[in-house]
Amino acid sequence: MEDITDSPFRSICKRFGADLVVTEFVSSEGLIRDAVKSKVKLTFGEDERPIAVQIFGHDVDSMQKAAEMAEEGNPDFIDLNFGCPVRKVVKKGAGAAMLKDVPRMLKMTDAVVKSTRLPVTVKTRLGWDSGDQPIVELSEQLQDLGIAAIAIHGRTAVQRYGDRADWSLIRQVKLNPRMRIPVFGNGDITNALVAKERLEQTAVDGLMVGRAATGNPWIFREIRSYLETGMIPPQPTIRERLEVLQEHFRKSLEHKEERRAILEFRKFYSGYFRGIPSFKPYRMELMKATLTKEVVKILNGI
Ligand SMILES: Cc1cc2nc3c(=O)[nH]c(=O)nc-3n(C[C@H](O)[C@H](O)[C@H](O)COP(=O)(O)O)c2cc1C
Repeated sequence: MEDITDSPFRSICKRFGADLVVTEFVSSEGLIRDAVKSKVKLTFGEDERPIAVQIFGHDVDSMQKAAEMAEEGNPDFIDLNFGCPVRKVVKKGAGAAMLKDVPRMLKMTDAVVKSTRLPVTVKTRLGWDSGDQPIVELSEQLQDLGIAAIAIHGRTAVQRYGDRADWSLIRQVKLNPRMRIPVFGNGDITNALVAKERLEQTAVDGLMVGRAATGNPWIFREIRSYLETGMIPPQPTIRERLEVLQEHFRKSLEHKEERRAILEFRKFYSGYFRGIPSFKPYRMELMKATLTKEVVKILNGI
C-alpha cells in the first residue's frame, strides 16, 4: 500500500507472521525516468523475502521495461497492479483503468510474463463497476497467459473503498474448475475471525490484509495462531505497541528523508493505539510534530 508498506513496515509485518509482502506500487514511467522515489520503493531487505515488487502503468512497452528494471533488484516475483482506483492513476489509464481495457491488460500481462524470468502475479478488482464484473473469465484469461497467482479485491473500481467487499465472485473464481493457479482474496479482513470465515467460505489459497495491518502488524500473528490452534493470542500491551512503534519510526528515519518520514508516519499512530482512549491527546500532538526530536519527546512521555 502506497506510503504504508515501505521496507521498514514490511520487515515488521514479516516478523509478526506475514507470509509474503508486496512493495508499494511503483510507477513504470517513474522508474524509467529514473525518479528517485520510484527507485527507493524497489529496495528491500533479505528478511522481507518472499517479496513482490508491484508495478503499474498504461503503456505496454514501459511496463515491460519497468519489469526488467524491477528484476535487477532480484525480488521473488513481480506483481502487476490492475486495481488502483486513485484519480491520478486512473486518469492516465493505469491501475484499475486497465479493467476498462481488458485487451490492453492481457497484452501487457503477456509482454511482462515473456520478458522476465520471475513469476508474475496480478492484483485486481472484480471489474470496473457493478454492470461490468468480468473477474471469473478474466482470471482464466490471465492464467492462460502464464501468471503465477491472482489476488482479487472484492470491490469494483467505482466502489473504491466504500461498501462492503463482496467475496462471492472471488469464491466463483476459486471454484472455477479451470483455475489451477493460487487465488488470493482481499477486502475487509479486519481480524482473525473474519479471516477464518473467508477462508472457509471461499476456499481461497490465501488472504491479503491491507488497511487493518496499518499500525497493527500483530494481525498476522493473530490470524496465524487462530488458523493453526483456534486460539487468539492476547492483544499487545501498550508497552509492546510503543516499542514496535518506536522501532518502526527509527527505521523510517533511516530509510527516508526526515520530513517525509515524519509526515508519512502520521498514518500509523491510530493503528498502533487503536482502542486506547487515553492515547488521543498524544496522537493529537504527534499529528502536529514536524521534527524528530518533537516526536521522540512525545513518545517518551507516554
Ligand atoms: C492508502 C492505501 C494505499 C494503497 N496502495 C495500494 C498499492 O500500492 N497497491 C495495491 O495493490 N493496493 C493498494 N491499496 C489497496 C489495498 O491493497 C487493498 O486492496 C484494499 O485496501 C482492500 O483491502 P483491505 O480491506 O484489507 O484494506 C491501497 C489501499 C490504501 C487504503
